[in-house]
Amino acid sequence: MQRLIIKGEKRLCGEIRVQGAKNSALPLLAGCLLAEGTTRLTRCPELSDVFAACRILSELGCKCSFRDNTAVTDSTGAQGFCITEELMREMRSSIVFLGAVLGRMGRCELSYPGGCELGPRPIDMHITALRQLGVRITEEHGRISCTCPKGIRGAVIDLPFPSVGATENIMLAAACGKGETVIHNAAREPEIKDLAAFLNSCGADIKGAGCSTVVIKGVKKLHGCEYEVMPDRIAAATYMAAAAATGGELGLLGVRCADIQAVTAVFEEMGAAVYCPEDRIFISCSRPLRAVRVIRTMPYPGFPTDAQAVVMAALATSQGSSMMVENIFESRYRHVDELVRMGADIKTSGRTAVIQGVKKLCGANVRAHDLRGGAALVTAALGAEGVTTVGNVQYIDRGYEQIEQVLTSVGADIRRAF
Ligand code: UD1
Repeated sequence: MQRLIIKGEKRLCGEIRVQGAKNSALPLLAGCLLAEGTTRLTRCPELSDVFAACRILSELGCKCSFRDNTAVTDSTGAQGFCITEELMREMRSSIVFLGAVLGRMGRCELSYPGGCELGPRPIDMHITALRQLGVRITEEHGRISCTCPKGIRGAVIDLPFPSVGATENIMLAAACGKGETVIHNAAREPEIKDLAAFLNSCGADIKGAGCSTVVIKGVKKLHGCEYEVMPDRIAAATYMAAAAATGGELGLLGVRCADIQAVTAVFEEMGAAVYCPEDRIFISCSRPLRAVRVIRTMPYPGFPTDAQAVVMAALATSQGSSMMVENIFESRYRHVDELVRMGADIKTSGRTAVIQGVKKLCGANVRAHDLRGGAALVTAALGAEGVTTVGNVQYIDRGYEQIEQVLTSVGADIRRAF
C-alpha cells in the first residue's frame, strides 16, 4: 500500500498550474467513441481514472494512446459493445460510457457500477431516461443489456434531480439520435458545458448546456476534433484549501474563476484574500482562519460536494464553530474520523457536520477512504504539527495529477513511500 508522508507546518508559497479536469476528461473520452476518426484531447490529466477510461476505449476496439497530457483516439474500427465487470469496478464513473456506446453501436452490455465509497450510487435516472430515448434495457445478475432496435429516438426528458452523470449520458446517447431531445432540470455543472462544447466541435448540435434546459438535435454522425479539457475546479479548490491550512499564499494558473465562485466566497468568509484576474486565482491566507456559519453542498452553481472535505480540513483549525450540510451524497463524511485522529473536533449527525475549530492538528497515521476525503487528509497534514502518514493513496491518485510533486514545488515536505 502506497503512503504519503507529510511533515506539516510548512507555509505553502508559489504558483501552481492547475491540471485538466478529471470529471470532464472522462465523459469527453466516452464521447471520443462517437466521433468517427481521430480525436486529440489536450490538457488531459494523467490519472488512474483517465487510464481506466482509455482501457475501456481499447476494449471497445478504439485505438487510444496517451502522451504528454494528450489522449489521441481513433474510433474508426470500434465495434465492441461490452464493458467487462473488472473495468466497470475499476472506475465507478464508467457508467458514462453507456450513452456513448449506445449512440455508436446501438447496443451495450455492462455491469452495475455497484456501491461505492460515497454510499449507494444508483443509476435509475440514467435507465429511465434511456428508456425514454427508445432503449430496451434488461438486467440480470448485475449485468445490464441495452439494445435500441429502432435507434435512439429524441424525447422530452424531465430529470427528477439534476444528475451530472445522467445529463451526460443523455447528451452522449442523443447526439447522433433521430430528432430532438430536450432535457429539463439538466445538471448545470461546467463539465456539462465542456462536454457539449466538445461534442459540438465534433459536429453535434447541442444548445443550452450550462442551463436547466438542454436541447440536442440529433445529427447523422460526428467527426474527430482537437479539444482542450477544461481546468479542474476541484483541484483548484483543494490547493486553495492547502494554502488556507498552512497560512500560505498561492497563485493558481490556468483556472476559470467563474466556475469556483461558490468556493472562493467561502475562503473569503474565512478571512483569506482572494484575487481573480482573468484565468488566475491568487489566494493569501493568514492564520488563524475564521469559522463560517454554514456551508450547504448543492448542485452547481451551489457549493460543490467535491470541495466539502478539503474545505472542512481547512476549517478544522479555524476560530469558532462551522457547520456543513451534505445534500448530494448520503455517506460523504468518512474523512471525519481520520481528521479526529489528527485532533480535529468534528461531530456528524446524518447529513450534518459541526466543526469546532481547534488551535492545531497533530500528525497521525490516517487512511484515505475516497478521493476527496483523501485530499482532505493531505490538506490537514500540511498544516498539522509533526508527521502524518496518509495510506490508501490510490484513491488520491484517481483525481490528482502528481500531487506530491505539485505540493513540493510550493514548499511542502511530502514524499511517497512504497
Ligand atoms: C458527478 C461527479 C462527482 C460529483 C457529482 C456531484 C463525475 C465523474 N463525478 O458524479 O465527482 O461529486 O457529480 O456533483 O463527474 N442519483 C440517483 N440516481 C441516478 C443518478 C444519481 O439517485 O440515476 C443520485 C446520486 O446517488 C447522488 C446524486 O444523485 O446522491 C448526485 O449524483 P450525480 O449528479 O449523478 O453524480 P455523478 O454523476 O455520479
